[in-house]
Amino acid sequence: MIKQYFRDQLGFRLVLASLLIGSLLSVFSTGIQLVASYNSQRAEATGVLDQIETTMSETLELALWTFDFDQVNIILDGIASNAAVTHLDLSSVTGHRWTRGVASETPLQRIYDLKHTPSTGQVQHLGTLRVELSLEAVVDRVWAQFWVTLLTNLVKAYVAAIALLYIVHRMISRHMHTIAEHVDGSSVATPSTELHLDRATRTKTDDLDRIVRAVTAYEGRVRKTLNTLQTEIAERVKSEQDAREALSVRSTFIGTMSHEVRTPLNSILGFLHLIETGKEVPERQRHYANVASRAARQLHNQLSNVLDMSRLDSNAVTISTRPTDIRRLAAQWQETTAAAVHFHQKDIDVTLDLEADLDAEYELDGARLTQIITNLTDNAAKFTTKGEIRIGVRRAPKQPDNGIGTCLEISVADTGPGIAEEDAARIFDRFSQIDEGLSRSHGGTGLGLAISLEMAQLMGAELRLASDERDGFACEFLLTLHCNVRLDSDHAAS
Ligand SMILES: Nc1ncnc2c1ncn2[C@@H]1O[C@H](COP(=O)(O)OP(=O)(O)OP(=O)(O)O)[C@@H](O)[C@H]1O
Ligand SMILES: [Mg+2]
Repeated sequence: MIKQYFRDQLGFRLVLASLLIGSLLSVFSTGIQLVASYNSQRAEATGVLDQIETTMSETLELALWTFDFDQVNIILDGIASNAAVTHLDLSSVTGHRWTRGVASETPLQRIYDLKHTPSTGQVQHLGTLRVELSLEAVVDRVWAQFWVTLLTNLVKAYVAAIALLYIVHRMISRHMHTIAEHVDGSSVATPSTELHLDRATRTKTDDLDRIVRAVTAYEGRVRKTLNTLQTEIAERVKSEQDAREALSVRSTFIGTMSHEVRTPLNSILGFLHLIETGKEVPERQRHYANVASRAARQLHNQLSNVLDMSRLDSNAVTISTRPTDIRRLAAQWQETTAAAVHFHQKDIDVTLDLEADLDAEYELDGARLTQIITNLTDNAAKFTTKGEIRIGVRRAPKQPDNGIGTCLEISVADTGPGIAEEDAARIFDRFSQIDEGLSRSHGGTGLGLAISLEMAQLMGAELRLASDERDGFACEFLLTLHCNVRLDSDHAAS
């Protein structure tokens, strides 16, 4: 129980503060009482000297005058019996001397001049009486008084403090704890956990009642908001699920459709190729077959893009790396680009710029990389009318910080119309084409770069348009790819 009170940090601190203040006040008030008591007792003690003067001196003078030394002794004993008197010294003019007690260095002493005034009127000097007083007893008494008062005051302060601790605990702290525990542990979503304090019912509301009311009202508001939020979340989850299902249905549909269309299209392309290359085919029919073949290829290309897009949307594209001879791959890209140039019936040089000290093999996904580069070279072949398309493979200027693997930079540059700075940001968006007239004449869906960018990101690579013109090329795309190196020695060992 007591332990519980001491857990009331607030009550405990309050009590400590009251104890500290109470103790200081006790010491202060006891000090004042001590000074007052000392002063009054000192005055009382010095009053003894006046008393001697008024009550004893006359009888002493008479006893001396009549040489009644017994009487002198009785009077001196009477004076010495006072506790404050420490020393008496009486010297008479007749040479007699009486002493009582021990002489000391006390500031409190008085010397009485004893004399007799006979009826003749001539004053006769009889002797001197020196009385010394000590305040030691007074000081001792005052100290005793001080300690008793101080202890009483301290005990009072401590008892009051403990009573205060109890009252603070009963009236405030335990209710504060209940409120804290309620707010801390209660689930506002559950209406059954209403805050209730263990207090007697009162007619007048106080601060605690107001706090309870505020907490209950606040919980009500939170509960309401929570309910709204929960409904909203449930609705969103449901619509997200619906959207995902719809997307999956759409992707499956598009995938199946484009696959279904591509299969007969491939056989159409095959037959058109036979007609185009057939020896006995008249020139006119060959021309028709050529036109039909172009249209079919374009359709094939567009279907492939749509299929890739739907695969990317349904996370069906996976990257699998394997040791790849980058030189051989680059040579294939050059050939495909030359074929595309030929397809577009253009007179454009396709060059390959390979850095001399490239490693034998790199760990990469050759098929996906080829897809990206083919998109870039197709664009270059499509939009360039004359000049050159250059495919470059080199080690990137910035290599990995940890020194593991290599960063390759693959570039596709052309001497075509280029891409204006203001268009550079949107060419990677889906279905975005800069020059609609030009694009319409070339066909396409505006998906190639969007697919390439997403594929590059899947591979952990970066695809961007070079911001500066290099070596007279109007447009250059850069793909920076981090891949592990397969050294010639590994190759030999395997
Ligand atoms: N080498 C380039 N030179 C000039 N413009 C280009 C080049 N590459 C891309 N662009 C511009 O960027 C646009 C987007 O290219 P993207 O490859 O995404 O689509 P597309 O080639 O038009 O169609 P798709 O690739 O789907 O057949 C192109 O329409 C073109 O305007
Ligand atoms: Mg394209």
